[in-house]
Amino acid sequence: MANQQYPTSHGINDLKKQAQVVVVMVPLPAQGHLNQLLQLSRLILSHNIPVHYVAATTHNRQAKQRVHGWDPNAAANIHFHDIEIPPFRCPPPNPEAKIKFPSQLQPAFNASIHLTKPVSMLLRALSCKARKVIVIYDSLMGSVIEEARFLSNAEAYTFRSVSAFAVSLYEWELEGNVIEENELFPRDIPTLEGCFTDEFAGFVNCHYSKHGKFNTGCVYNTCRVIESAYMDFLEKETTKEGIKHWALGPFNPVTIPERSKSSKKQHFCLEWLDKQAKNTVIYVSFGTTTTFDDEQIKELANGLRKSQKKFIWVLRDADKGDVFKGEERRAELPKGYENSVDGKGLVVRDWAPQLEILAHPATGGFMSHCGWNSCMESISMGVPLAAWPMHSDQPRNTVLITKVLKIGIVVRDWVRRDEIVTSKIVKNAVNRLMASTEGNEMRKRAAEMGESVRGSVDEGGVSRMEMESFIAHITR
Ligand SMILES: *[C@@H]1O[C@H](CO)[C@@H](O)[C@H](O)[C@H]1NC(C)=O
Repeated sequence: MANQQYPTSHGINDLKKQAQVVVVMVPLPAQGHLNQLLQLSRLILSHNIPVHYVAATTHNRQAKQRVHGWDPNAAANIHFHDIEIPPFRCPPPNPEAKIKFPSQLQPAFNASIHLTKPVSMLLRALSCKARKVIVIYDSLMGSVIEEARFLSNAEAYTFRSVSAFAVSLYEWELEGNVIEENELFPRDIPTLEGCFTDEFAGFVNCHYSKHGKFNTGCVYNTCRVIESAYMDFLEKETTKEGIKHWALGPFNPVTIPERSKSSKKQHFCLEWLDKQAKNTVIYVSFGTTTTFDDEQIKELANGLRKSQKKFIWVLRDADKGDVFKGEERRAELPKGYENSVDGKGLVVRDWAPQLEILAHPATGGFMSHCGWNSCMESISMGVPLAAWPMHSDQPRNTVLITKVLKIGIVVRDWVRRDEIVTSKIVKNAVNRLMASTEGNEMRKRAAEMGESVRGSVDEGGVSRMEMESFIAHITR
C-alpha cells in the first residue's frame, strides 16, 4: 500500500498532494498590509497551491491596482473574493494631527468585522472540498477568521506585518519585561508613546491574536540574513507553546523584469533615472499613511533644493479608508518650486513604481518613514535609508536600520517628533547620506546586504529553504 500512496515519481506526487491544500489570505485593509499578503500570495501560488484572497471589494481593487515589480497577470490566478460590506465613513487624513497614526483608516479597520460572516462561509465551503484549509491572516484580523477554529481540517497562521525586531520588542513588553540594553537590543529603544492613537490601541487590544491555542505558526516578511537574531528570539519565546516561525521574505520580487524601453507605459521617473549617474539620486517617499502640513512640506521642499542633490520626491496625501472615494488634497509647493529644481529633482504626485526606482542603479538613497514594506524593499535592492519615522513600528524600525544593521541615518530623532523638521535638517541629512564617507560606507554595507538578501531566495538560500519548509509543513 505504501507504494501506492508514495509513487516513485516525486514531483507529481508533490503536485497532487498540494492540490488538495488551499490557502486563504485575510489582510488588514491598509496598503502596507494588503500589499504584503498579495506578494505572499504570488509566492505561494508559485508552489502550485491555490490561493484565495479575501477583502472588501474596494480593498481588493486597491491591492490589485497598486501591484508593482511583477506582472499583474500573475495575479489573475489568485482567487479574489470581493466582499461587499456596508459603507463606512471615509474622512480625509488630518495633516495637523499631533499623533501621526492614520486615524482616518479606523472606520475601515472597524468595518472589517463585516467580513466575518462571508469569510466563515468561504472557509466552510473550502473545508468540504479540500484536504486542508490554510488560513494566513493579519495579526489584527483574528476575530474575522474565528470559524477556522471549528473546522477540523483548517489551520491558521498569523502574518506579522512588521519586522521581527519590532515583534520581539512587543512580545517582550507584553510579558511585562522592561527593555534594557543587551546583546539583542541597543540602547534607547523608543517607547510606544506617540506611536498609535488610543482608539487604535484599543482595537489592537481587542483583535491582536497572541498565539492562542489555535494558532499554529507565524509568518514574517523578513529574511534570516537580516533578522536571524530576532527570529531565534521569537522561537525561543514560544517553544513551550510549540509555535513555529517562518521568515519567508522578502515578499517583494528581488529582480525586476527587463523594461521594454519602447513601452509607453514606462513611468516618466524611470526614464529620468536612466539619464542620471550611479548612486546620485535620493528617492524621497513617506508611504501611504503620512500627511504633512503645508509648513512641513515647504521645509522639506527647500531642504531638498538646498542639498543640491538629485531627487525623486513622491508627494501624495495619505490614503483614505477607501482610496477610490472623494478628492485627494493636492499639497501646495512653494511658488515656482518645480521650475527651480528643473533637471535636479522630480516631484511625483501619483503612484510611483517604488520597487523599480529602488532597483535602479542611479538611486543611491531612500528618505523614508521606515514602514516595514519600504524597509524590506530598500534592503533587498541594496539602498541605504535616511529614516524619518512617523508612527507605529516605524520608530523602532529606525533603530533596526540605523543602530543594528547600520545601513541608514536618522533624519529626525523620534523624541523631537513634535517639532518641525527644518530645511536645514533635511539638507544636512541628504548630504550626510548621499555625499559623505559615512554615507558611502552605509551604501556599501546596504549593497552587500542587498546582494545577500537577493541570494537568499535562490536555490539553497535561507529564504528559499524557509519557504520550502513552510510549504512542506502546510502540505504535510
Ligand atoms: C471603532 O470601533 C470601536 C469599538 O467598537 C469604537 O469605540 C470606535 O468609535 C469605532 N471608531 C470608528 C472611527 O468607527
